[in-house]
Parts: sequence; C-alpha cells; structure tokens
Amino acid sequence: MTFCGIDLSSPILNASGTFDAIAAQLAFGERLQENFPFAAFVSKTVTLAPREGNPPPRLWELPAGMINSIGLPNKGLTRYLEEDLPRLAQLPVPLFVNVMGFSRDELVELVGAFGERSEVAAVELNVSCPNVETGLVMGADPWEVSKLLDRVRPLTEKPLIVKLTPSASDVAAVAIAAQSAGASALSLINTIRGMALDPRSGRPWLGAVTGGVSGPAVRAVALAQVHAVRTAVEIPIIGMGGVANGRDALNLMLAGADLVAVGTESFRDPAAGARIARELAEARADPASLAGSGEGSRKVRGFTPSGC
Ligand SMILES: Cc1cc2nc3c(=O)[nH]c(=O)nc-3n(C[C@H](O)[C@H](O)[C@H](O)COP(=O)(O)O)c2cc1C
Repeated sequence: MTFCGIDLSSPILNASGTFDAIAAQLAFGERLQENFPFAAFVSKTVTLAPREGNPPPRLWELPAGMINSIGLPNKGLTRYLEEDLPRLAQLPVPLFVNVMGFSRDELVELVGAFGERSEVAAVELNVSCPNVETGLVMGADPWEVSKLLDRVRPLTEKPLIVKLTPSASDVAAVAIAAQSAGASALSLINTIRGMALDPRSGRPWLGAVTGGVSGPAVRAVALAQVHAVRTAVEIPIIGMGGVANGRDALNLMLAGADLVAVGTESFRDPAAGARIARELAEARADPASLAGSGEGSRKVRGFTPSGC
C-alpha cells in the first residue's frame, strides 16, 4: 500500500514517543532489522533546543492505560541530526520525524532542517503545545494551524502530517484548516490531559501535576474524533488511541483512518505492531471472524444511542 506516495508493507505504524528504535536496535540487533514491528518508524518529538523533560514521577498506571508526563525529553535538533538520524536511517522502514516548536519560527527551523534530508520520508508536526507568542495551543485553533502551515508548507515537498490535539473544541474545524493550508495528512489522537493523586498523601502523583492519558481508556474518544475528521476532510488520516489488537485497528479504519498507529500497547508488548498488523490482515480478509469478540459483544441493556 502507499501513503502520500510512500510504499508501506502494512497500515500499522508506531505512535510517536512510544517505541525507542535506537534502544531496540542495541537490544535486538539483526533480529530487529529482520522483524521490525512497524511499516514505518515515527520518531519521538524533536524540539529545537534540548529538553530534560518533566520532574519525576512521570508515569501513573490506570485500569485501562496510563498517564504520562514525560515532557518530551530529547537532545535537540543539532545533536539529533548528528547522532540519532544516522542510526534511524538504518532502519528497514521509512522514517517519519515528529517535531514540535514553541513558536512558528522554531517550527520553521525544524521543518527546514528535516525537509531536505534524504533519510526522512515525512515530517509530523506535533501541534499540541502553546505558541509562546499568542498563548494559544497551536493545534486547538484553526487560525494558528493555518498560519503555521503558511510558513512551513513551502519549505519541503515531503508529506507534512499534522498531529491534531484532542483538546480542540472542534477538531473537524482544525482538520479543515490544516487541509486547506496544505497538510498532506492528519494524525490523531494525541493524549488527553489527566491527573492522579498519591493515595498516601492525597497530593498530585505526577511531578508535573497533570499528564496525558493514553491506552484503551481513550479508544472511544479516538474513534469519535477520527470519524469527525473523516467526515470533514479528504486527505489521509493516521488514527491512534488505545489500539491493542487487530479489531481496534480495524475499527479505527472503519471510522475513517487510512493507517493506524500503536502507542501504549508497545510498552506491554514490544512486538505488538507486528501482531496487530497480522490480526488486522486476518480481520480484513474475514470480518466475520471478529463477530462476538471484544467490547462490541457486551451489549448494554437499555442503552440509548444518543450523544445529546
Ligand atoms: C509515554 C508516551 C510518550 C509519548 N510521546 C509523544 C511524543 O514524543 N510526541 C507525540 O506527538 N506524541 C507522543 N505521545 C502520544 C502518542 O503518540 C499517541 O498519540 C497517544 O499515546 C495515543 O495512542 P495510544 O493510546 O495507542 O498510546 C506519547 C504517548 C506516551 C504514552
């Protein structure tokens, strides 16, 4: 299959920040090269300056997923280009680089740097952070997204994927703005803000107080947002949020995703990507094989299908 002109062996990618391909290369060597679990590798977010990330603790486990407040630690653009890009270029799959900036100028520099590199197949814009110049979360506001793309779209002919934020009050409006301003594709959902309390002290558990909820807990939100975006735009969509098996992946595709990314599930099972790609292929060949399994089989008595 192809995605924005890029050949892919399956529709399953990793979600940014949830699979460390460099650590996996060191741990598994040749075995990883031969059995890479994803059809493309999406890097964790790269920022212009190095970041240490948030103070610990940074993780809280939920009954259905987790809250993370990792805070995007990374070595910054210069060291990333020198140290990580050459290693990631050796992966047997196309490389998508995910970037985030605290202003449009920062994103211009980041897209400019990766946009011409032959190692990079596509650039994903993580727009879930505030623009320090306007105070608005870039991805929550159609105007911000439009202004950003006006600046970065001319810098590269590579596919530009806008990773939408689930905190937008109207995610479809942001999607339309991104498409109109030249985005090649959209990805969603990012994590949803959440909080946990230390059961002993009653105070916030996470060092950053709040963090991002991910995993099965966000799956229904992901389905609704992918559906809303699909009804609004024609460009390809990478769906993610709580995908743990082939059925979850198929459901996101039925809701409108062209590709599906696996995030939190890779922490539980580092080979999840390959398993989910296999399960998805089986499910697409024989959709009846899924009937009666999973969430959908548990009918709720008296359930009224109304969102109003
Ligand atoms: C530990 C962790 C780190 C993450 N880091 C990033 C990141 O660096 N950049 C980004 O765009 N999204 C990041 N995400 C969000 C995921 O890419 C994904 O959008 C989200 O977790 C929903 O998918 P999931 O429920 O399958 O995990 C991170 C998520 C987790 C759990």
